[in-house]
Amino acid sequence: MADATPSTHRQVAWVIDLNRCIGCQTCSVACKVLWTQGEGEDPMWWCTVNTKPGRGTPRDWEQMGGGYRNGELALGRLPTAEEFGEAWEFNHAEVYESGKGQDAFLKPIGAPPTWGMNWDEDIGAGTFPNAHFFYLPRLCNHCSRPACLEACPNDAIYKREEDGLVLRDEDRCKGAQTCARACPYKKIYFNPARKVSQHCIGCFPRLEKGVAPACVRQCPGRAVFFGFLDDAKATVHRLVREWEVALPLHAEWNTEPNVFYIPPLSTPWIREDGSVDESRRRLPTGYLESLFGPRVRAAVGTLESEMSKRRQGRPSELMKTLIAYDWKEMLGPFTRDPAELTWS
Ligand code: SF4
Ligand code: SF4
Ligand code: SF4
Ligand code: F3S
Repeated sequence: MADATPSTHRQVAWVIDLNRCIGCQTCSVACKVLWTQGEGEDPMWWCTVNTKPGRGTPRDWEQMGGGYRNGELALGRLPTAEEFGEAWEFNHAEVYESGKGQDAFLKPIGAPPTWGMNWDEDIGAGTFPNAHFFYLPRLCNHCSRPACLEACPNDAIYKREEDGLVLRDEDRCKGAQTCARACPYKKIYFNPARKVSQHCIGCFPRLEKGVAPACVRQCPGRAVFFGFLDDAKATVHRLVREWEVALPLHAEWNTEPNVFYIPPLSTPWIREDGSVDESRRRLPTGYLESLFGPRVRAAVGTLESEMSKRRQGRPSELMKTLIAYDWKEMLGPFTRDPAELTWS
């Protein structure tokens, strides 16, 4: 097994603004199209966007264990293929070639599906008129203390010096899957055709050419910031370290994740008589704390107070940054256009 806390010189980070994410799945599809169309990869979605509150992908992943508990590596449970959601087969031949016209419609064939990558979309929680939900994009956190790395008996997982990405040497991977048990975010898939595990590669071939990851660059909501966390001038650094409005998901699992989230703000509570209770939030703060920890209260407070400044016509550097007038400022040095480069 490898050292639990590999030191790296540099660390890239994602900051996802949950007030900007519209749940469109463009990030998921951008990743899918680019990286997981090979043999055994059909059910893989390295980037997933699920509705919260919700059970997510794989189903109930937050209850599966992993990470570090009481300072020790904790091997959790391996998600099943059914919990991730299998790749469905559809009746394309019937719809497009059978001549049935409007009498045939697209549907999965075989045993009825029981779960999928975005099965509980838009269900959320609460009841009308106080129903609530938000979207939570997730990918490998390229953790600074990657439990997956320590768990591998074959030293197949490593953390790169130049950007802190957590990658797998597939020549060394023997399909042991203890990495997947140890990852508390359950972001590792098993490829049954090639007998290796796979997870987000941080789009490293793009980073090496100065291009932002596909899930970041393709986001139509300008919801994702990317750059070096250790660069004091980078927007991700300012959001995480200076303004402290971007927080890791489930920091209590102690893997030191490098995907951070601007917490979602909430509309106020509607009373039974239809009047608005400005003192109460529809999205329970306790729920946000269960995801982003106690610091979420201060982060929400900062966001609300900076928004209030703008409403009064006063300047706010934080709001200007989050509005992202200039998309290049969102991506640190990774602003090159992938269409202008030659890819081998
Ligand atoms: Fe959210 Fe952007 Fe992904 Fe769409 S592409 S789901 S807006 S993060
Ligand atoms: Fe490893 Fe999971 Fe962290 Fe990714 S999110 S680096 S797979 S522990
Ligand atoms: Fe997929 Fe690249 Fe985003 Fe990772 S960084 S989820 S490989 S698009
Ligand atoms: Fe190691 Fe995971 Fe492969 S534990 S051997 S990287 S499946």
